[in-house]
Amino acid sequence: MQFPNENQKITLVTGKGGVGKSAVAAALAEVYARQGLRTLLVELGERSYYQYIYEMPIRYEPTRVFDRFYISLWSGESALREYVYYLIRVRKLVDLFFENKIMRTFIRAAPALKELAVLGKITSGIRAWGPELEFDRIVVDAFSTGHFLALLQAPAGIADLIESGPMGEQSRRICEVLNRADLAQYYIVTLPEELPVAEAIELKAALKARVGMEPKLICNRVYETALTTSWLERYSDQPFAEFLINTMKAQGHETAQLKQAAGSFTTLPLIFNDRGRIVIERLSQALESKVERL
Ligand SMILES: Nc1ncnc2c1ncn2[C@@H]1O[C@H](COP(=O)(O)OP(=O)(O)O)[C@@H](O)[C@H]1O
Ligand SMILES: [Mg+2]
Repeated sequence: MQFPNENQKITLVTGKGGVGKSAVAAALAEVYARQGLRTLLVELGERSYYQYIYEMPIRYEPTRVFDRFYISLWSGESALREYVYYLIRVRKLVDLFFENKIMRTFIRAAPALKELAVLGKITSGIRAWGPELEFDRIVVDAFSTGHFLALLQAPAGIADLIESGPMGEQSRRICEVLNRADLAQYYIVTLPEELPVAEAIELKAALKARVGMEPKLICNRVYETALTTSWLERYSDQPFAEFLINTMKAQGHETAQLKQAAGSFTTLPLIFNDRGRIVIERLSQALESKVERL
């Protein structure tokens, strides 16, 4: 089936908590924007992380960071509110609907509804549903592993539950966008460490089963040094040399595991800087040559 705006592409970034999802999603978005694509970086949830990084208020409506680079914060409730508004088209009624105690309880009890609204919003540009979303790229700093799989399950679950009517129909269309490799792509971020690697391998299989395409893997925070372990071994009585040798060996072991179980992946370096803005900038420079233009 054709969608009204198949020029827009969605990139969803997930992985274990703390592996660098937000940093990698922002770095990818910066790369796209520098390549000349109008790019919207989307945070999911109630509170913005990027507001501290880019030092500007981030809200539901896109905030312009530079040239073609914008950021939005989409919570389940704000997406659902907008969805209901587009169905009813009277702001006062929508406010009544959301302020009603019974409705509030219902919304709290039905998280799948919020998740459907969030995915509906993410795919709304391609489907040309609701307010215009004039971007070439939507990059989503998505939830971590389990929560992300639950999010993706929502439209399929609702489509199974409600076969007929506009909601069933929309849920199916949302799934369709999310399952099309020419419209959506998935990045799993991991670290060269035991638990993140194990989780990434499992997540890759689970995601592939859900969306029917191969997610791309990024191994973040890899020590990239010109020093070799054999050279370092000459200084193995020095604590720092010992630390580096052990780290590089452990990292080599984990990346070998990852390669064997999950195939190829992109490596991003450990950045020796504690400012998020600089980490993102360096990661985007490292990604620049690695992200093919779609
Ligand atoms: N390659 C890297 N090198 C150095 N620091 C990094 C790197 N990637 C991420 N960080 C830092 O690690 C912390 C966690 O990253 P973040 O993107 O917030 O993770 P997540 O969104 O997965 O929880 C942040 O302080 C971020 O700046
Ligand atoms: Mg994050």
